[in-house]
Amino acid sequence: MKEDYGLFVWPCSIVLAEYVWQQRSRFSGNDVVEVLGLTWGSWDESIFSLLPKIILGADVLYDARAFDDLFATVTFLFQNNPGSVFITTYHNRSGHHLIEFLMVKWGLKCVKLVDGFSLLPSDKAARLSGNIQLAEIVLSHEQIEETSSSGAR
Ligand SMILES: C[S@@+](CC[C@H](N)C(=O)[O-])C[C@H]1O[C@@H](n2cnc3c(N)ncnc32)[C@H](O)[C@@H]1O
Repeated sequence: MKEDYGLFVWPCSIVLAEYVWQQRSRFSGNDVVEVLGLTWGSWDESIFSLLPKIILGADVLYDARAFDDLFATVTFLFQNNPGSVFITTYHNRSGHHLIEFLMVKWGLKCVKLVDGFSLLPSDKAARLSGNIQLAEIVLSHEQIEETSSSGAR
């Protein structure tokens, strides 16, 4: 690993930052959590007190072995915070198949999928490369019904 590895600005974070800026009115007055501050797939005390309306994660879908843990944490936050949304940017390196499979498994659906470069002004886009996608993911309708009926029991 190079000594300047930690100083690298990931292209996905630039795309997500740009999107947050463009959509800034959505963030005003809402609790926002970055999934990077959590340990995915692990339930320590702090996660129970989080009430985010918006969950952010730049380049958190990069190691397929961690996808399941990431979606488990995101789904837990969705179930505790009805109406919340996970906004993430990722490098689409090998197609969407595993992500799609895990979204079905966790009862999630993608409500927005856009090419990251289409969001960037041309000067910023010229400095980046790769196939970067931005996705907005929510709890699917069926999962919401299941969660609310189990809460009513
Ligand atoms: C490619 S980096 C992206 C970092 C940052 N979001 C950015 O765009 O600059 C992916 C990050 O996921 C974190 N990560 C990997 N597995 C994790 C896990 N199980 N729980 C929490 N974070 C994890 C890594 O530590 C790393 O910081």
